[in-house]
Amino acid sequence: MPIIAPSLLSANYLNLEADCKMLNVSEADWYHLDVMDGNFVPNISFGPMLIEFFRKATTKVCDVHLMIVNPENYTEQFKNAGADNLTVHLEACHHLHRNIQQIKSLGMKAGVALNPHTSVSALNDILHDIDLVCLMSVNPGFGGQKFIPYTLEKIKLLRKMIDERGLNVKIEIDGGVTIENAPSIIAAGADVLVAGNTVFKSVNPIETIKQLKSL
Ligand code: DX5
Ligand code: ZN
Repeated sequence: MPIIAPSLLSANYLNLEADCKMLNVSEADWYHLDVMDGNFVPNISFGPMLIEFFRKATTKVCDVHLMIVNPENYTEQFKNAGADNLTVHLEACHHLHRNIQQIKSLGMKAGVALNPHTSVSALNDILHDIDLVCLMSVNPGFGGQKFIPYTLEKIKLLRKMIDERGLNVKIEIDGGVTIENAPSIIAAGADVLVAGNTVFKSVNPIETIKQLKSL
């Protein structure tokens, strides 16, 4: 069964408590929390302060996706805010290996995210050091975009790389995941489905999460 990680970027910020309560009673596994700096991506979302509130609202895994430059300057803040998983973008890191070691030394799981144009082969020399790969299936910055079909090829390739090396690295797919395309994403070898609009804009989010989980 896939791990379901609703993206709170699409939640109702006038009533976050209600959305947290909904997620807590749902079959969602992780809270996916998108941090944007208006520099690495053309949008600004939220930072550690809000993550501290989410941390207090749930016992589920807080999966923090950093779309920021110089993530090493904030790693400790995100740890203190309560992040369980911390994912940095390969394209945003000059010293990815050092950043990964820093994340792990603070006791968090370490993830690397790849933009749609970045080949999974760029992970060759870091794959054995990480816990999670977040493959972006849209250009990061906004919820509600359309899934880029070529991502399926990237998932298959990455699945092969992970399995051939006998590694325990999760593949997370982020962007444009729907009830319709989720089966092919899972069949290609994904472990974690991020879903923002599909969950929060649906008439019955709890039921939608249940459907995603049962695929
Ligand atoms: C995009 C974010 C995603 C986004 C997904 O930059 O990283 O997590 O919220 O939203 P949907 O599922 O609506 O594409
Ligand atoms: Zn994300």
